[in-house]
Amino acid sequence: MESDLSDLSDRDLARAIRRRLELVRMFGGDLPIRVPPVPGARRGAPQAPRLRGAGAAGAAGGSRSGVISGGGAVPAGSGSLAGSPAAASASPPADAAERERRERLLAPIRAEAAGCSKCGLCRRRTQAVFGAGDPCARLMFVGEAPGFDEDRRGEPFVGKAGRLLTDIIEKGMRLRRGDVYIANVIKCHPPGNRNPDASEIAECLPYLERQIEIVAPEVICALGLVAARALLDRPEASISALRGRFHQRRGIAVRVTYHPAYLLRSPAEKRKAWEDVQAIMKLLGIA
Ligand code: URA
Repeated sequence: MESDLSDLSDRDLARAIRRRLELVRMFGGDLPIRVPPVPGARRGAPQAPRLRGAGAAGAAGGSRSGVISGGGAVPAGSGSLAGSPAAASASPPADAAERERRERLLAPIRAEAAGCSKCGLCRRRTQAVFGAGDPCARLMFVGEAPGFDEDRRGEPFVGKAGRLLTDIIEKGMRLRRGDVYIANVIKCHPPGNRNPDASEIAECLPYLERQIEIVAPEVICALGLVAARALLDRPEASISALRGRFHQRRGIAVRVTYHPAYLLRSPAEKRKAWEDVQAIMKLLGIA
């Protein structure tokens, strides 16, 4: 819902303008001049929405609480969407137990990936880059493969493209990076940042599929063509054919957007990426 200028206090108006400037800086200068919704305007609610999955959510095949609908229902147990960052980190005990359970389910898969030698990429990796974030996240980002920085640090999206992804999450969506889950289709760095080939994808994809099954997000954001094709099993599709709508992958909504590395090279496309991000936020009920 848009806020009306006349409804806003000076403080809320200043906050709305700051927010608009931040978005313009990140996604480009031709955004429509509208006052964005001000969460909690005139109610004094804190800003950052929560994006953590339910404690009782059934990972690995169980029933999932919360629904994927335009209304973006809040999963049971996840509390208010308008919690402060501090509140978001203070998970209720049920959440903590569920988070631990999912970490325990992920651990052996992480270990298996760490020692994987199913394809030649293992020979030159520093380490496999499994994934990071909240195992109860309602939103998962999936990229292509670790780059040079990720290979060194063992965490996805920590280089230049990663910094843009972090800005999209934190400044654009107003979430914390730790509240989403981030992974790649391929767990080992392809030399020279080349695209992974079909056999490497086929060998590595089962790790991601198991991660998705355990994290059981409501929405997956596929970053770039390699991730989109792999997740949607559309090996020939172009990014423009896949963008602009939600797909379903085994009951999970998938939205395709441009890879952050591409956005760094083609900043004019940031506007479209912001549309994709907004669609995801709407679906999750955090727009
Ligand atoms: N690009 C990706 O696709 N994944 C990363 O983790 C880093 C860069």
